[in-house]
Amino acid sequence: MSELVLNKLNHIVFKKVADACSEQGLETFVIGGFVRDVFLDRPSHDIDIVTVGSGIDLAKNTAKRLNKNLKVSYFKNFGTAMFQYKGLEVEFVGARKESYQRNSRKPIVEDGTLEDDQKRRDFTINAMAFSLHPDNFGELIDPFNGMQDIKDEIIRTPLDPDITYSDDPLRMLRAIRFANQLGFTIEEESLNAIERNAERIQIISLERVADELNKIMLCKKPSLGFKLLQKTGLLKLIFAEFEAMKGIEVKNGVKHKDNFYHTLQVLDNICKHTDNLWLRWAALLHDIAKPVTKRFDKSHGWTFHGHEFRGTKMVPIIFRKLKLPLNEKMKYVQKMVGLHMRPIVLAQEEVTDSAIRRLLFEAGNDIEDLMTLCDADITSKNPEKVSKYLDNYQLVRRKLKEVEEKDKVRNWQPPVSGEEIMEVFNLKPCKEVGDLKAAIKDAILDGVIPNEYDAAYSFMLEQGLKMGLESNHK
Ligand code: CTP
Repeated sequence: MSELVLNKLNHIVFKKVADACSEQGLETFVIGGFVRDVFLDRPSHDIDIVTVGSGIDLAKNTAKRLNKNLKVSYFKNFGTAMFQYKGLEVEFVGARKESYQRNSRKPIVEDGTLEDDQKRRDFTINAMAFSLHPDNFGELIDPFNGMQDIKDEIIRTPLDPDITYSDDPLRMLRAIRFANQLGFTIEEESLNAIERNAERIQIISLERVADELNKIMLCKKPSLGFKLLQKTGLLKLIFAEFEAMKGIEVKNGVKHKDNFYHTLQVLDNICKHTDNLWLRWAALLHDIAKPVTKRFDKSHGWTFHGHEFRGTKMVPIIFRKLKLPLNEKMKYVQKMVGLHMRPIVLAQEEVTDSAIRRLLFEAGNDIEDLMTLCDADITSKNPEKVSKYLDNYQLVRRKLKEVEEKDKVRNWQPPVSGEEIMEVFNLKPCKEVGDLKAAIKDAILDGVIPNEYDAAYSFMLEQGLKMGLESNHK
């Protein structure tokens, strides 16, 4: 056994499993992601233990040896058990032979040998096991040559890929996600099988699909994953709005850029500067409404007027469809999509302080993220243009800083509240209250009145009067 393996198995949990399986006379193994990650030198906190016998009994026996108060959760129906111990999540299961029904992920499960269990796993690199029995502790059991595939950086299924993918279609996304995360290549037969079985992805719950999509989004270079999703036909089934961005149209000899590849470039660019999943989603969705706003006319050529606004309307629809959270994360993405064209205008010489104040007010604390998105959105192949655009954004950053230092509008709230407006004019919540609030905000942002309570109060009275409202002010 190599030093590497010895070190990784030198954990009290493995020792106690070995003691327990020796006492019970069970063949027992650590299997799957943990074994793979030993050889890839990736940290792993999930340990999957498989035993030729009862996983639940072994889990209880092991837990008792670690700490008699350790709580074991188990599911009798599935024959699985798990406990958490010092930051590790340890799962136990009896070795299984499984066969799947055509329209369901729910397998018919029977007890089996270790090899039966390895065969039914997704990829050769995930089907390797180390023995935990004291007689051959640490021995690698690798019937499908996963080690060779790790060396060759290949994703391959242990069985005929049509069977493996059809058994559990989520594995098609897992193949692409692992290829992207690890920089591996999907073996050709496997890739063809994904294409053939793509339609079966539709029996998988959207939550699990979203989980894999997010893992792709968090890769160093997610474009690789998305190009594979597109090539295999999965993308149009799970995220049609994005697929719709692909292609170039030519009219009267004028063409527009391919927004699918542009977007992927923006996404890769932003990944060099942020690990924030939601800023990455904003990059992916910033031009999502280009296909639906695309127009051609002779004098302007191709235009995508209002795509940022239409984009804000599409974000919640897409988030709902993909089962992404419909909370402040979604609102943040919506805000980024809606504002992504604004800094471009601010780079011009004659831009007013009021335009800058407005952007600061609308972006609030997310202004730096917005500028990161704008930098990433520069995908020209011409280095002179790139440096010109980057300089422009540096200028915008300077202007934003100057105005923020002077006026502090980033987290600003107008000095007169809605409650006060209602009180002064004897109003219940109604349209007039909103109109007055907006008028005060606009007057301050446009520099018509100073950002002070007294000035805002007088302005409110004046405006109210013009609207025909009666005030209690004496
Ligand atoms: N597995 C499988 N088919 C799936 C999911 C999982 O065969 N659809 C098997 C693989 O052997 C995998 C193991 O179950 O290694 C554990 O799965 P999981 O914890 O989901 O994945 P990991 O491989 O550990 O990797 P990650 O945590 O990155 O998802």
